[in-house]
Amino acid sequence: MHTALVVGATSEIGRAIARRLAREVAILQLAGRDPERLERQAEDLRGDVERVCVHRCDVLAPDGGASGLEALDPLPDVAVCVVGGARDQREAERDPRAAEDTMRTNYLGPAMLLGAIAEPFVARGSGVIVGISSVSGERGRRSNYIYGSAKAGFTAFLSGLRHRLADSGVHVATVKPGWVRTGTNPGTPPWLTAEPADVAEAVWRAVRARRNVVYVRGRWRLVMAAVRAIPEPLFKRLRL
Ligand SMILES: NC(=O)c1ccc[n+]([C@@H]2O[C@H](COP(=O)([O-])OP(=O)(O)OC[C@H]3O[C@@H](n4cnc5c(N)ncnc54)[C@H](OP(=O)(O)O)[C@@H]3O)[C@@H](O)[C@H]2O)c1
Repeated sequence: MHTALVVGATSEIGRAIARRLAREVAILQLAGRDPERLERQAEDLRGDVERVCVHRCDVLAPDGGASGLEALDPLPDVAVCVVGGARDQREAERDPRAAEDTMRTNYLGPAMLLGAIAEPFVARGSGVIVGISSVSGERGRRSNYIYGSAKAGFTAFLSGLRHRLADSGVHVATVKPGWVRTGTNPGTPPWLTAEPADVAEAVWRAVRARRNVVYVRGRWRLVMAAVRAIPEPLFKRLRL
């Protein structure tokens, strides 16, 4: 692995992923909406890698953010999309614009971007694409179904892209962090809560071992299997 791209690198999880990948690659490409913040991050990483460069990329731009990444030189071997994030579910219920923003930021934008990045990877015949999705996409719940439905779409997109590219030399991995100790997630149970560095390690595991679907904490696989198995009449009574 020579070059890695992290889109959404300003988030805590994105920063941890960039730091982890800096141990493995020579060139790191950081992309996001705020080049000045990315430049400061790049400064911190410059001692760890041969080269760090910064690219402006808004995945909700009319071209899906692809124009910001046309200048990628070299074409990365690994592309990780961290863009997204849970928003206030109640606000999204009241305000259709907030709902739309959550849906577009967690599904449409990341899917269009990774779909565009896949094309030059396929032409080259190699590369790994990683999407950060969420366990929230596995069953709609009253407390976060707007975010969850967008992540469900993103998970399905990644699954389909992986299927389509199976014989192309390009691998697609889905990473499901579960709860992560970030500003957006205070007070979750420690036994189900990962650190941003754990997510970063899981991303690297997915890249190195070409894993398909990675739960950052394995116990989430069991928790979500149980949640998916609850019959709908009972599920409706639960406050989840
Ligand atoms: N935190 C958790 O517990 C948790 C759990 C499961 C999954 N995840 C997933 O992990 C990822 C990071 O989550 P987080 O909690 O760290 O979220 P966050 O702090 O809200 O970070 C969101 C990231 O997405 C970027 N972004 C938002 N809209 C964008 C756009 N239109 N174009 C380009 N970049 C955009 C933000 O960039 P700006 O700096 O420019 O705003 C930021 O880098 C998300 O995909 C989230 O769904 C998080």
